[in-house]
Amino acid sequence: MMSKKLFALLLLLCSIAVSAKDVKTGDWNVIPLPQSVEVVAKPAFVINAHTTVYYPTGDAVQKRNAEFLVSYVKAMTGIGITATDRSASNQIRLGVASVAGGDEAYDINVTKKFITLNGATHAAVFRGLQTITKALPMVSEAKEVALPAAKIHDAPRFAYRGFMLDCGRHYFSVDYIKKFIDVLAMHNINYFHWHLTEDQGWRIEIKKYPLLTEIGSKRKQTVLPGGKEYDGKPVSGYYTQDEARDIVRYAAERHITVIPEVDMPGHIQSALAAYPQLGCTGGPYDVCCHFGVIREVMCAGQPFALQLAKDVINEIMDIFPSPYIHIGGDECPKERWKECERCQAKIAALGLKDIEGHSKEEQLQSWFMGEVAKEIKARGRKILGWDEILDGTPSKDITVIAWTSQKASMRSAREGHKTVVAPITNFYFSNPRINQITGIPSIKRVYDVDPAFAQLSDSEKANVIGAEGCIWTEWVPDTKKLEWELLPRLAALAEVQWTNQNQREFGSFADRLLHMHDIYRKMNLNYKEDIEKAIITDGKTAK
Ligand code: ACM
Ligand code: ZN
Repeated sequence: MMSKKLFALLLLLCSIAVSAKDVKTGDWNVIPLPQSVEVVAKPAFVINAHTTVYYPTGDAVQKRNAEFLVSYVKAMTGIGITATDRSASNQIRLGVASVAGGDEAYDINVTKKFITLNGATHAAVFRGLQTITKALPMVSEAKEVALPAAKIHDAPRFAYRGFMLDCGRHYFSVDYIKKFIDVLAMHNINYFHWHLTEDQGWRIEIKKYPLLTEIGSKRKQTVLPGGKEYDGKPVSGYYTQDEARDIVRYAAERHITVIPEVDMPGHIQSALAAYPQLGCTGGPYDVCCHFGVIREVMCAGQPFALQLAKDVINEIMDIFPSPYIHIGGDECPKERWKECERCQAKIAALGLKDIEGHSKEEQLQSWFMGEVAKEIKARGRKILGWDEILDGTPSKDITVIAWTSQKASMRSAREGHKTVVAPITNFYFSNPRINQITGIPSIKRVYDVDPAFAQLSDSEKANVIGAEGCIWTEWVPDTKKLEWELLPRLAALAEVQWTNQNQREFGSFADRLLHMHDIYRKMNLNYKEDIEKAIITDGKTAK
């Protein structure tokens, strides 16, 4: 007969074996795919309520990183772990150490006792935290989960990994912008390009020119698709300087830089409505209720217009510490300038003449932007502009966001400009006329772009500093539609931006995307489910 004690011991062993088997284990097949993942045939690291995240005493940024991981583990698994500056076993240890691969490179070593995450900087550690979070299994109400033993080395392919949101056409609340930043952080994006001004709305408080928001942030209504009728619903909203600073701080904690854009000298009718003397005709102007390329632009021959532009940019630099300041430069029709006495007098005074490839009005725009650029350079910042600035005679130290085509990216890189690749045909998530917005082809259209275009020489490729996705919000009145346009294509963009080209393969990406969808569901994000269905229907491969 088996003794009672032995029977109890056997029962206990059986229950341990069962619960060990029941522990859900994650995997390291995350998006974006790290540079190298070596899964080791050793026992996994188990996360439970006793797990701690270690940060060195007195390192406030690492403490915040540790607290982020605590909150991510809670959100994904429901398990409450804690951050501490005391070492212990069953610990996730965060540190800054020398790691090959630049400022955002990190190593993760997973053993039964520890996960050690070392980054070249605190930002690198933060990127590593995203990888750990995305590797967690999807559970609810679990007591413990496991992560397979592994050695991971990772670093980004591109230093500039951006996403642009147009808050000019529609205003999104401060709380929502923060949520949006969280979504960007999860995709390893490091620049949030914040498009703050448009013909249809001026969204940032400028103390020296209060009418910009008092008048310029409000439009009466919005045109309906088709362009003939209007909805009769007013649209308004702007960010105070304090709110903008709060967003900058929130993003910085997540190692994301907020790049402000004030678009000029075109796309600025909201400012003309506030200060009609900014325009060539003197107005009156409305805050635009329709969309398109608007012919009313700032008068480049009007000293007040240049003064306002410089003052605005200086206040913007007071709010935003970003090394880059975006001054637009896109879609500025020259009709008004051709007819305007002041603009023509300025052209004459500057001695501008039509030259091959550059009209005198295009050069007037280069002059205007160049004067604003001096303010930016004087404060040690760098200028970003859309690729139309190449039509003038821009200074080579302007970084170009090339949107009009893939060719524009190549032209910019060839002409010696640092270039961010953002072609309308692929990385504009809000343009159903040009980009299919649903199904596998919509994802492939993003995924299949290699920003270091094969047609470029090695030195030209070196001018490509990264890639950016854009959402323009003419037809995006709410966050539901915004997320529907964003996800899951943002995951495809993240892999374009982060993962080495020779590691990228669409079938593998599509398989990994299903877990990303689980995460989107956990975060209550309105991703496009049709893509998920297409992947599953196609037998988990979506080639
Ligand atoms: C743009 O899409 N006009 C930059
Ligand atoms: Zn003019």
